[in-house]
Amino acid sequence: MSKPRQFKPRHLKLGAMVHGVGHGWGEWRHPNAQPNASTSFGFYKQQTELAEAAKFDFVFIADSLHIHAKSSPHYLNRFEPLTILSALAAITTNIGLVATVTVSYTEPYQVARQFSSLDHISGGRAGWNVVTSWLSGTADNFGKAEHPPHAVRYRIAKEHVNAVKGLWDSWEDDAFAYNKQSGEFFTPSKLHALNHKGEFFSVKGPLNIARSRQGQPVIFQAGTSEDGRNFAAENSDAIFVHVDSIEEGLAYSQDLKRRAKGFGRDADSLSILPGIRPIVGRDEAEVESRYQQAVDLVTVEDAIVALGRPFNDHDFSQYPLDAPFPELGDLGSNSQKGGSDRIKQLAKDEGLTLREVALRFSRPKRDFVGTPEQVADAIQTWFETGASDGFIINSVLPDGLQYFTELVVPVLQQRGLFRTEYSGQTLRDNLGLDVPANRYSVAVEVEEQQQALA
Ligand SMILES: Cc1cc2nc3c(=O)[nH]c(=O)nc-3n(C[C@H](O)[C@H](O)[C@H](O)COP(=O)(O)O)c2cc1C
Repeated sequence: MSKPRQFKPRHLKLGAMVHGVGHGWGEWRHPNAQPNASTSFGFYKQQTELAEAAKFDFVFIADSLHIHAKSSPHYLNRFEPLTILSALAAITTNIGLVATVTVSYTEPYQVARQFSSLDHISGGRAGWNVVTSWLSGTADNFGKAEHPPHAVRYRIAKEHVNAVKGLWDSWEDDAFAYNKQSGEFFTPSKLHALNHKGEFFSVKGPLNIARSRQGQPVIFQAGTSEDGRNFAAENSDAIFVHVDSIEEGLAYSQDLKRRAKGFGRDADSLSILPGIRPIVGRDEAEVESRYQQAVDLVTVEDAIVALGRPFNDHDFSQYPLDAPFPELGDLGSNSQKGGSDRIKQLAKDEGLTLREVALRFSRPKRDFVGTPEQVADAIQTWFETGASDGFIINSVLPDGLQYFTELVVPVLQQRGLFRTEYSGQTLRDNLGLDVPANRYSVAVEVEEQQQALA
């Protein structure tokens, strides 16, 4: 039976997005950038060690499954997330390991097995960022006639995640008896087949791996559309989001927590983690120099290509740069729906040109840019007003994570906002999440209680 929840004080959560040569098209050109970082184990090891030394909750590896010649440098040549995280598991002890895997081009059995393996290898530190894939060209890499429509993708997601969670419970926690005298390797009554037959998947089970130390891997999501928000609120433990202001963050956070309550969940256990790109300098002069370095990495040509990303890699170079932002109809609604709608709305509300929208989208923003104290102030304000429960940190400059961990984290620690030691060893421990009870053990306990009362 699940135990009653104990009050847990709210604490700031931090994740590091380890993203090889960077998010955009230009970061690899920085004089100190390692152009092959996206396939360099040394780079991933160094970034993860920095994050673990700073007591981050987790590192995160993003992913997608379709490229073309205009894709960004990191997309063109990068590690498969579970493979690199398995290697990182072996050289770390406390930090969580979160990987993106799509539901639209995988089977629940395979995903359940892969994450469960990572969870065992790492001693309970795995997390799954559930995505539905926004690039329609992905279908061509998986022998599918078409990329499923946005709403269908979220129906697939719901069924997929439920099946995966069911498979993760295949074995009750004490199922493996390992009794050498009796020869009982496991207790047959504690092994369960899922027997799932749904709209998109059919999977009998059981899964061929036990539950891990944290029961089940942690579920992450990044829903911004209506369907995406509902899916995230119902199914995830932590949510990534791009928001531009504290007001937007607060509105998003309140909305997601209200939806979570509507699904009968404890909204306080849900973490909202906006993605931010801090640029830190030791003093004002270094802040300005580093900010300028980041700005210089974004050309207008690259910004125009980057703008296409949430619109299924739409080619914006066909429109005049200094004319009003083009009328796009429902373009983007089958891709990153939430993100593309937001860009269209912004262009309309502020009457922006294509050039202005593209640069706004790609150039580093001014918030979270400053001295260590200034960046810590911004983080503290967002956290204390409830606009976020923490952040996922993206680096713009090659040493961005090092600057953040060595300069900002100590300030957060001095202020009592961030941990100085890990309190546990699993990702659930880090995030303050309960271990989910095995559904079959719960059913047995309920039955036993009913029999005792009868
Ligand atoms: C911090 C962050 C990380 C993300 N990582 C990925 C990723 O690795 N792969 C992916 O396909 N989408 C990723 N997304 C995008 C979401 O999956 C999704 O496409 C987007 O939020 C739009 O959601 P919608 O379908 O509800 O409109 C990420 C979003 C955020 C905010």
